[in-house]
Amino acid sequence: MAFTFFFRDKQTLDLIQEHVVPVIRGKRYINIWDAGCAMGPEPYSLAIILREKMGQFIFRNIKILATDIDNSNLFGKIIREGIYDRELVGRIPKEIFEKYFSLLDNKPGNFVLSKEIKDRVEYLKHDLLSFNALRTGFCLILCKNVLLHFKQEEQIKVIEMFYGALEPGGFLVMEQTQKMPSRFDHKFRRVVSNAQIYQKLPA
Ligand SMILES: C[S@@+](CC[C@H](N)C(=O)[O-])C[C@H]1O[C@@H](n2cnc3c(N)ncnc32)[C@H](O)[C@@H]1O
Repeated sequence: MAFTFFFRDKQTLDLIQEHVVPVIRGKRYINIWDAGCAMGPEPYSLAIILREKMGQFIFRNIKILATDIDNSNLFGKIIREGIYDRELVGRIPKEIFEKYFSLLDNKPGNFVLSKEIKDRVEYLKHDLLSFNALRTGFCLILCKNVLLHFKQEEQIKVIEMFYGALEPGGFLVMEQTQKMPSRFDHKFRRVVSNAQIYQKLPA
């Protein structure tokens, strides 16, 4: 099963709250793609931090498309149920955890996410190495701890695909160690110096 957990890389989540949310919150449709989402902690962490910064009405404009190649064929069911054990939720700050999770009576040590958060995430199986985006018009794409498994030329083709799938001014977020190749210097501007958050430049 893929390695992931809720609130992995809290620093980048905080920087998304600070630099990305103020730009996207005014949009009528807030379409986000989490590419390589594993069994859900990452797209759900993102949904939670967005909800923390948005009222319930604006929050309903968000749609997070969560995709993964999912060799286990289990991620869809896990994400739809939104049930996670203590190990995966342990890094969530207590006050946030208590707002969005409830203990399951019939499954000790397991917690279920609130419907409000689950309703914002849609899961689809998708292979990034098809180099075909399922949709376009995203204002934010998150792709973390996935590209490192690909060859350099594959990474470039995937980032090209993300560029095409983003709307003008949209954001691409990768993990701390995934640098943007220099050939994209005219396509993305780096938003902050302490995280891999990039904004799409006009063609
Ligand atoms: C280490 S996990 C990262 C999960 C999450 N993004 C995070 O950072 O916590 C890597 C994920 O990439 C997915 N993956 C690997 N190759 C992929 C591909 N070609 N297309 C889509 N997802 C892929 C794996 O199935 C796995 O769920």
